[in-house]
Amino acid sequence: MSETRESMKACCECGKACFQVAWHCTQFWTTLSISAIVVWLVYRPNHFQPNVDSAVLNTLNLTATGGLRYDLAVDMSFRNSHRGLKIQYLDVSAIAFYNGTTLGPANDALPAPFRQGPKNTTVLHPKFQGMVAAVDSCVAAELERELAAGTVHVRVSASLTIKYKVGLIKQISFYKYDCWLWFPPPQVNAPAIFDAGTRCWLAK
Ligand SMILES: *[C@@H]1O[C@H](CO)[C@@H](O)[C@H](O)[C@H]1NC(C)=O
Ligand SMILES: *[C@@H]1O[C@H](CO)[C@@H](O)[C@H](O)[C@H]1NC(C)=O
Ligand SMILES: *[C@@H]1O[C@H](CO)[C@@H](O)[C@H](O)[C@H]1NC(C)=O
Repeated sequence: MSETRESMKACCECGKACFQVAWHCTQFWTTLSISAIVVWLVYRPNHFQPNVDSAVLNTLNLTATGGLRYDLAVDMSFRNSHRGLKIQYLDVSAIAFYNGTTLGPANDALPAPFRQGPKNTTVLHPKFQGMVAAVDSCVAAELERELAAGTVHVRVSASLTIKYKVGLIKQISFYKYDCWLWFPPPQVNAPAIFDAGTRCWLAK
């Protein structure tokens, strides 16, 4: 008899303890997620956006053997517009595309990791130079069409892995941006200049 009562009591205590643990757990996670949401609303790190200030397209032409030669230099600025947020860039990379065809990653690895203080801008200069050995005939046709029409479009895709710390919360985020550039057809010895400046947009 007493044994049953004992075990019932133990069980109840266990139940109570478990409940307490669960309650503390809930409280802990609620506090944590509320602070994460507040941090998010105050700092809006997702509003951070790179910009292409200018670019030079030296070459974008088809070779006699069906290749595509390219030579592109881009000035890209990364701005930390937050007042109290230090950002650490763990990894930065850029790839250029013409009509879906990869024109290769930037020739030199972009400098990373680096730190960026509040209200500061860092300008990086990715360069893309080389030749795609054989391009799809649709891509070649599209380039011919664009050259004849007087405007060629190139997309630069920038991938960032950044880390920021707010209070006790450290967050590592990965962002990918698309920057759309347009140029007049480059001529021999007369590179095409893009100086309108354009924002890069968060890619899906
Ligand atoms: C390439 O250009 C063609 C013609 O404008 C367009 O329909 C197609 O969607 C483009 N492809 C990519 C991957 O951008
Ligand atoms: C921005 O960062 C650079 C490089 O770290 C530094 O030299 C410069 O003083 C900073 N400017 C401001 C306004 O913090
Ligand atoms: C391609 O561009 C390069 C550099 O501008 C130039 O030397 C070459 O003649 C061009 N080729 C063609 C087929 O237009």
